[in-house]
Amino acid sequence: MPPVDIHSVSTLYSAEEIAARVEALAQEIARDMPDDILVVAILKGGFVFAADLIRALHGAGMCPRVDFMTLSSYGTGKVSSGEVSIARDISDDIQGADILLVDDILESGRTVAAARRLLLERGAQSVKICMLLDKPGKRKVECEADFCGFVVPDLFVVGYGLDYAHYYRDLPYIGTIDD
Ligand code: IMP
Ligand code: MG
Repeated sequence: MPPVDIHSVSTLYSAEEIAARVEALAQEIARDMPDDILVVAILKGGFVFAADLIRALHGAGMCPRVDFMTLSSYGTGKVSSGEVSIARDISDDIQGADILLVDDILESGRTVAAARRLLLERGAQSVKICMLLDKPGKRKVECEADFCGFVVPDLFVVGYGLDYAHYYRDLPYIGTIDD
């Protein structure tokens, strides 16, 4: 069962607000990147956002390839363990690729910084970062998003791919959990 009742989740961004922002982000990305990019979605949190984003990129005239990488820095609680491990790696050839890393939320910056370092070491030509959310108050390593959906306050958020103890990724909106 979910760790908290659905009634204690308050909407921060509605499904409509998210959809409008995703469209605008795709236009920005299409302006700044070549058409033939490799989107690397970070699982699990980035999959909902990435699924909507690639279709918006298509609408913006791009033809992205898509791959996935499972990274984890969290246990089942609300606090990061600080260590980033690869649980599932990408399978596409990335030599010379222009990569767009897509993830749910930039907090300490460790997850995405580790992924970017790895992809560049393996021969990617460029790596840009697209985050659904940014919590700028929590940065522990130097890492900024090239494209960002929303800047959020320092609260624990769920929905649209983001979980709390494995639940609530399915919410079509983004909400905060009331204490
Ligand atoms: P970072 O490595 O600290 O930037 O961690 C980011 C990762 O922590 C995200 O990909 C999420 O999986 C998780 N995370 C950070 N903040 C939240 C939150 O408010 N809600 C749910 N997951 C979060
Ligand atoms: Mg994540």
